[in-house]
Amino acid sequence: MSKIKVLIVDDIAETRENVKRLMYFEEDMEVVGEAGNGEEAVTLAEKLRPDIILMDINMPVMDGITSTEQISLKLPRAGIIIMSVQGEQEYLKKAMMAGAREYMVKPFSSDELAETIRKVFDFEARRIDKLVPAERKAEIRQEPQVITVFSTKGGVGKTTIATNLAVSLVRETGRKVALIDLDLQFGDVAVMLNVMPKRTLTELVQEIGQLDGELLGSYLVPHPSGVKILPAPTRPEYAELITATQVEKILGLLKQNYDYIIVDTPPVFNDTNLVALDASDQILLILALDLPTIKNIKLSLEVLESLHQRGKVRIILNRSSNDFGIKYEDVERSLGFLVAAHVPSDGRVVVASVNKGVPFAISHPGSPVTLSIKELTKMVITGDGTQEQLKIKEKKGLLKRLFG
Ligand SMILES: Nc1ncnc2c1ncn2[C@@H]1O[C@H](COP(=O)(O)OP(=O)(O)OP(=O)(O)O)[C@@H](O)[C@H]1O
Ligand SMILES: [Mg+2]
Repeated sequence: MSKIKVLIVDDIAETRENVKRLMYFEEDMEVVGEAGNGEEAVTLAEKLRPDIILMDINMPVMDGITSTEQISLKLPRAGIIIMSVQGEQEYLKKAMMAGAREYMVKPFSSDELAETIRKVFDFEARRIDKLVPAERKAEIRQEPQVITVFSTKGGVGKTTIATNLAVSLVRETGRKVALIDLDLQFGDVAVMLNVMPKRTLTELVQEIGQLDGELLGSYLVPHPSGVKILPAPTRPEYAELITATQVEKILGLLKQNYDYIIVDTPPVFNDTNLVALDASDQILLILALDLPTIKNIKLSLEVLESLHQRGKVRIILNRSSNDFGIKYEDVERSLGFLVAAHVPSDGRVVVASVNKGVPFAISHPGSPVTLSIKELTKMVITGDGTQEQLKIKEKKGLLKRLFG
């Protein structure tokens, strides 16, 4: 199980040490950082995304109340606990108004501290659960869902969609979401989510004999959004150490422990991808409006048909636009499949978010690309979007040349 992450904010180093010492023997929590004033706390909180922030009131540069206010706005999921001294009643009221959840009067015991931290953490977890609208809860499937993001074409946006979908699923459902990077040679999930894994699938498969839910959990890297990541090997040559049987076992265990398992893939029909496709409940096949990709998707659909996987497929059109000289409606006719969801082209937002390592679903909540991912998320949650095969009508122009 992952630990409750705590940030300590106090201008007196000795007080920070004392608080750390009080938490030393609590196995379910850990101190992830320390700040000496309110301003440092805001910066560190954004970087470390702690679950709990222990906040002093009177500090130089920026006081604890202003800091609480700023952090509550930026990180509504962080639970702030004020550490006050006797006689600060008036400040306490202000701190609670600013968004603090609890307060403790110094000096406090280790039991008091641990209990307050757990209480606030549980309250936050329940509050977030409540934020998920009731009608959405009813839509959410109870059985775990494996969703593979696939395309036999490179660079069409598989990783972009997989990472943003994972983040969005946590936001929309409050459920447990794992993201596994099966692009074993050149996986980009860790880079796109700006996490630096110490251990990856390479080390995990060395312990495959003893693998259980707990050991697997220790390999999953937590992202501030709540998504747990199983990263690809750090070097391409390690890819061949990972077998399809091992991937099958890992996916099976993830299913026992997570509600949504998103699988990012390399653009090939290799053994590990086949295992993922087979284990999937939904396959998101990423299409783009250029001839090579359309040709590849057409062939992929044929292969998926022969593998009896076609029923799971939803076609997602990425970089949807009318400016490419090919209409998606014509492509639908050629493929005999309707596009289930569109993700618009937005180089500014998407490339900036990739380069910053922050999914646009977080950094640009109101942008059209994020709204399209929200729609896609809804589709994934309800399991809608499977396509009845369309009658292939007459093809025109370029598409006729290609498929005619
Ligand atoms: N909707 C979009 N609008 C603009 N740019 C996009 C969009 N989707 C993806 N991109 C850009 O396209 C590039 C390739 O995307 P991504 O890495 O997600 O593709 P991929 O299919 O995972 O590639 P690979 O096959 O190499 O793993 C990225 O730089 C990304 O920023
Ligand atoms: Mg990729």
